[in-house]
Amino acid sequence: MNAARIVVVGTGYVGLTTGACLASLGHTVTCVDVDTVKVARLSAGRVDILEPGLAELVARGLTGGTLSFVVGAAEAVRDADAVFLCVPTPMGAGGAADLRAVEDVVTEIADHLPPDCAVVTKSTVPVGTTRRISALLGRSDIAVVSNPEFLREGTAVDDFLGPDRIVVGSDTPGAAQWIADLYASLGAPSVVTDAASAELVKYAANCFLAMKLSYVNSIAELCERFGADIESVTEGMGHDRRIGRSFLKPGPGWGGSCLPKDTSALLRMSESTGFGFELLDAAIAENLAQRERIIAKIARAVGGNLADARIGLLGLAFKAGTNDLRDSPALGVASVLCAHGAEVTAYDPAVAEEQPGILVVDSAYRAAKGADAVVVLTEWPEFRRLDWHYMAESMHGDTVLDTRNLLDPDTVLDAGLSWQGIGRPRAV
Ligand code: UGA
Repeated sequence: MNAARIVVVGTGYVGLTTGACLASLGHTVTCVDVDTVKVARLSAGRVDILEPGLAELVARGLTGGTLSFVVGAAEAVRDADAVFLCVPTPMGAGGAADLRAVEDVVTEIADHLPPDCAVVTKSTVPVGTTRRISALLGRSDIAVVSNPEFLREGTAVDDFLGPDRIVVGSDTPGAAQWIADLYASLGAPSVVTDAASAELVKYAANCFLAMKLSYVNSIAELCERFGADIESVTEGMGHDRRIGRSFLKPGPGWGGSCLPKDTSALLRMSESTGFGFELLDAAIAENLAQRERIIAKIARAVGGNLADARIGLLGLAFKAGTNDLRDSPALGVASVLCAHGAEVTAYDPAVAEEQPGILVVDSAYRAAKGADAVVVLTEWPEFRRLDWHYMAESMHGDTVLDTRNLLDPDTVLDAGLSWQGIGRPRAV
């Protein structure tokens, strides 16, 4: 593998992970951001993102001289072999992806790129964007390449360094293979294709995962209606290698900064071609329905009236191992409870900031204090180790609603409480 000079634009969790990991593979990486404070902090080795292993990789890159942080993309790209775009593409008007950040960077760097440099999109961009960037650049000597990332928050470094696959697509002959070669030392299978196919892989994968979860949440609902147990059902399904065991855990619905945004964007993209994609539409609707069912369960647990009920929430982050609250189902549940007049107290080991309408406290026992019901919304392992006798003493009511099927029902029962999971028989 030839070491390349790489510029990464954007130091969010994708950009920073990409930059630090590419540096660890032997490339020389300059990470660019518009935020001067962030650049100064990162240059001093301060990483504010909760991502295992990332701070260590950044420190190693800084010490070894293979990683640096600067402000100003135009200057940084002057002697780059490849420029990776890792800027946000949030959900814009009407559910489509908002490409302004990508377009701004492309316009800024267009006249400063050295001849034969490659521009690589890592950000999740609508199908067709790679070709649009080419047109925007207006330079026939620059190859534009799509190289989607498949990093999960909380395991981003491991996902980068041990990927299931590398996907690279370009309409410029040879360019996709050249970018795939930057990852050669990882030994992962690579899919080298055209630009539109690479862009679509990312949406197709994330939307498939979202549909899998909506499906499993629907099956969990059926389990409750038929008196079956989702744990056995998903175990029985998961042994089938065509289905696989992962992404089969029911929960309060899927959230985070990616699945809601990407499902919505693919649906809009699909509709723009005249294809309704009803399967995906139904998966999105089912995700909202799951939240409604959880609210209804909480209401039943407190005797039907949420107004004036006290609810203790365990977990606010969209999943364990992160402090990310973007599109968190836990926050969604909390806000509906508040809107119904419930008094909501919450504890999350990674979240300390106040949230609108919710009292955020610093321990699970405080969240349980005087609660008519306690609801587990994020699968933090430490909730399994709580002293449930102490929780029971703090609570006013006796219902524990475990939307992640995280707790050991017998432990909760031993404390004199009742336990209710998702798609599992109730323990009373
Ligand atoms: C997701 C994808 O998994 C990554 O491959 C992708 O790169 C990333 O989006 C992205 O587009 O950047 P992430 O958003 O970090 O990663 O979160 P996941 O671990 O996929 O979880 C998504 C949601 O599904 C969470 O709300 C989680 O709690 C939920 N989930 C996941 C379940 O309810 N059950 C499961 O079995 C798995």
